[in-house]
Amino acid sequence: MANIHSEKILILDFGSQVTQLIARRVREIGVYCEIYPFDADVERMKEFAPQGIILSGSPESTTEEGSPRAPEWVFNAGVPVLGICYGLQTMSVQLGGKVEGSDKREYGYAAMDVVAPCPLFDGLSDHEGVNKLDVWMSHGDKVTAIPEGFVTVGSTDTCPYAAVYNKERNFFGVQFHPEVTHSKQGGEFLRRFVIDVCKLHGLWSPNAIIDDAVERIRAQVGDSKVLLGLSGGVDSSVTALLLHRAIGEQLVCVFVDNGLLRLNEGQQVKEMFSGLGLNIVYADASERFLKALEGISDPEAKRKAIGHTFIDVFADEARKLDGVDFLAQGTIYPDVVESAQTKSGKAHVIKSHHNVGGLPEDLKFQLVEPLRELFKDEVRRIGVELGLPVKMVQRHPFPGPGLGVRVLGEVKKEYLDLLRQADAIFMEELNNSGWYEQVSQAFTVFLPVRSVGVMGDGRRYDYVVCLRAVKTIDFMTAKWAELPYELLGRVSNRIINEVNGISRVCYDVSGKPPATIEWE
Ligand code: XMP
Repeated sequence: MANIHSEKILILDFGSQVTQLIARRVREIGVYCEIYPFDADVERMKEFAPQGIILSGSPESTTEEGSPRAPEWVFNAGVPVLGICYGLQTMSVQLGGKVEGSDKREYGYAAMDVVAPCPLFDGLSDHEGVNKLDVWMSHGDKVTAIPEGFVTVGSTDTCPYAAVYNKERNFFGVQFHPEVTHSKQGGEFLRRFVIDVCKLHGLWSPNAIIDDAVERIRAQVGDSKVLLGLSGGVDSSVTALLLHRAIGEQLVCVFVDNGLLRLNEGQQVKEMFSGLGLNIVYADASERFLKALEGISDPEAKRKAIGHTFIDVFADEARKLDGVDFLAQGTIYPDVVESAQTKSGKAHVIKSHHNVGGLPEDLKFQLVEPLRELFKDEVRRIGVELGLPVKMVQRHPFPGPGLGVRVLGEVKKEYLDLLRQADAIFMEELNNSGWYEQVSQAFTVFLPVRSVGVMGDGRRYDYVVCLRAVKTIDFMTAKWAELPYELLGRVSNRIINEVNGISRVCYDVSGKPPATIEWE
């Protein structure tokens, strides 16, 4: 078996919002890569021994004092370097060129003329008969003089140094963003850099990732038993299947039914995984969670109560098991990157949600985290290879505290039951209309207020629900989805007619920011 980690690209992060996108593109090309903060320990970078380095964009300006720079090692490592946007600018400044600030931002499409040969662009064009490429720009500062040894290979009307190349050293710089799909041939430029320039083959494929993970899990756990908290979400499900493939019966999954799940969800998860041959302990703890939530209406306090109860229930189940040495977790690569702060705190740090916090002292497990290197899309792909239904891996994210944060204020069984019915109708209609796949996340929120309505001859005084559907790439910002009126109308009619206790349905038209995706 080829070592899938023998080929690797290092991505230095200067704090761009889309650094992870660069990494995902490189992985799609079939090469392993890791993201390091620009000020990470150089010894670590040397040890990683990449065959190519990519410098990311950044919200910073090289013209500001104290702005981030790449370690000198990057330019002396003897491997190809590609600077993207800020990456190009810092490379230019560090190697003797010049960058100037500007109060005008260039944002959007630009047509770049390819003006000299360069292995990234040769023979490519988006315009018939001319050597012109459609690229996506997003920058304020501009390179105004390139370092010695570089030539200009691409320019636009407003940006004379849109792409530069140093043939001798194999250094490339682009002002545009090849990692975003708006740059039409961006994927091809990156492929050429990674495969042709860095001379890699592309060993990173779903099957190879699975084989590698299976081998590593076996080496780590030996004959020991492994415990996994299975939530039914994509990450824990794929973790379960990988472990099952690696160690079979040695894996014990605990599924905690917290009573905050969607309609029939607990049963479905149990049936699906038992059907796949997994060993599952089903802990019905709905009463315990409801009790813990009694009288609490503050969102953070609710989250804490749910989190603590989860730990208690999980710990109780774990204590019933013998000979378990390992605890498996579905930590994925973005969790790892986002919790690695830069020394200077300059790169963007995004909050991550951790559902399994610390277990009590008496339960000391070693961690197994087989998804630690993977992006969500890679997790989905290997999930399908491992036998998860496509529908299951394409499901929208569902928060750990579940419906607990979708029933506003105090959580009551009555409210949860109403919400479950309403949400099931919304999901059914989204699926039937083909809109489920077109939005990133959709759900229903229960508002514990009553409003007046009429039905037949009678007067109703019932609860309100609000539908929410958003489109987003990274869940950091989101737009509300423009669902067709006709679909919203049908969902509303069905909820009011079929759910006895709800008399009004609203649609949430708030973007993030300022509103978050969840209501609590
Ligand atoms: P917000 O509401 O912060 O949500 O805009 C962003 C994404 O995170 C999910 N979310 C959570 N996930 N535990 C989780 O596991 C939580 O406490 C939690 N809160 C929000 C949310 O569903 C959305 O996908």
